[in-house]
Amino acid sequence: MKAIRIHAHGGPEALVADDVEIADPGPGDVRVRHTAIALNFSDINVRRGGFYQQEPMPMPLIPGNEAAGVVASVGDGVTDWRVGDRVAYAGMHGPFYRNTGAYAQERNVPADRLVAIPECVSDRVACGLLLKGATAASIIERIFPPREGQTILVHAAASGVGSILTRWAAHLGAIVIGTVGNRDKARAALANGAAHAILYREQDFVTQVKKIAPLGVHAVFDGVGKDTFVRSFDCTAPFGTLVNYGNASGHVPPIDMIDLAQKGSLSICRPAVSYFLNDAARLRAVAERLFALVQSGVLAVDIAATYRLEDVAQAHRDAEAGKHAGSVVLLP
Ligand SMILES: NC(=O)c1ccc[n+]([C@@H]2O[C@H](COP(=O)([O-])OP(=O)(O)OC[C@H]3O[C@@H](n4cnc5c(N)ncnc54)[C@H](OP(=O)(O)O)[C@@H]3O)[C@@H](O)[C@H]2O)c1
Repeated sequence: MKAIRIHAHGGPEALVADDVEIADPGPGDVRVRHTAIALNFSDINVRRGGFYQQEPMPMPLIPGNEAAGVVASVGDGVTDWRVGDRVAYAGMHGPFYRNTGAYAQERNVPADRLVAIPECVSDRVACGLLLKGATAASIIERIFPPREGQTILVHAAASGVGSILTRWAAHLGAIVIGTVGNRDKARAALANGAAHAILYREQDFVTQVKKIAPLGVHAVFDGVGKDTFVRSFDCTAPFGTLVNYGNASGHVPPIDMIDLAQKGSLSICRPAVSYFLNDAARLRAVAERLFALVQSGVLAVDIAATYRLEDVAQAHRDAEAGKHAGSVVLLP
């Protein structure tokens, strides 16, 4: 089968299409023929190397943590799945940079990692939803459930995770202020329910947020990191909560706890989606909740772009340039 591998860390050109052998599924495993593969920002971190990968990674490796597809065959002892079932998965136990392998036409996956895709959800939406939606769930269900009338600042509000956060928070009655990189993304954020969109590369977002919410926002949901997180302290209301869930612009610098007192008794949190992905029961449960939210129209996944799997280098280039408004899907 064709798989995309990296033989060493590097730029997008490190992603090469190789012919690789795939064994029959072992006991407890299911062979999934992929129909849609998610591009997640974590794939870029794996390709680049560094980040918080502590040991050298075994090369060559197939990147990718998330895909949807059809059961092609099952190994001994698998009773939950049958050939032809539509399934999706995100994560494979352990940190995102271990046990990758989704950038391939097929993959053997432990049966307990799979979730069933409901009939009304497409494969593309399923694989655009699971990991990013579970990340949003870790914030909205566990850290800061937005309430009617609260003001929430969502950075990169048209990103894969940001667009889900925006929709979800707006549905719960929050007034969402989204920062975005360009006018198309501003339109996307507003269409997803944001009340305001700030072009944060053209305008100082702290000044703009204070114009909209003079007392400060109740919470900040930030996947941008280095360029936005610490500055957001200045537009958060006393006792507000700042969630840094991602580092698209780089790591947030170390924070002195006393700053949280001086800036107004702030709380900060840094969630990891592995809470949901590393536990099969939790993964199934959050997937069911997310699919139900899609079915009821609360959540939608904006598929910003699709690329052929062999064009994945271009997909990475475009994602690193911040071109997309929504989720990106690779088609094998
Ligand atoms: N905590 C977790 O477990 C978890 C789970 C999922 C994702 N994440 C992280 O969350 C972040 C966002 O993920 P995502 O799926 O929403 O990503 P995405 O769809 O690729 O969007 C990233 C957005 O960040 C903005 N950005 C700002 N500075 C950037 C830079 N230097 N390079 C690239 N983009 C930049 C861009 O939007 P603008 O043009 O609007 O600025 C870009 O579109 C990533 O860091 C990802 O690794 C963490």
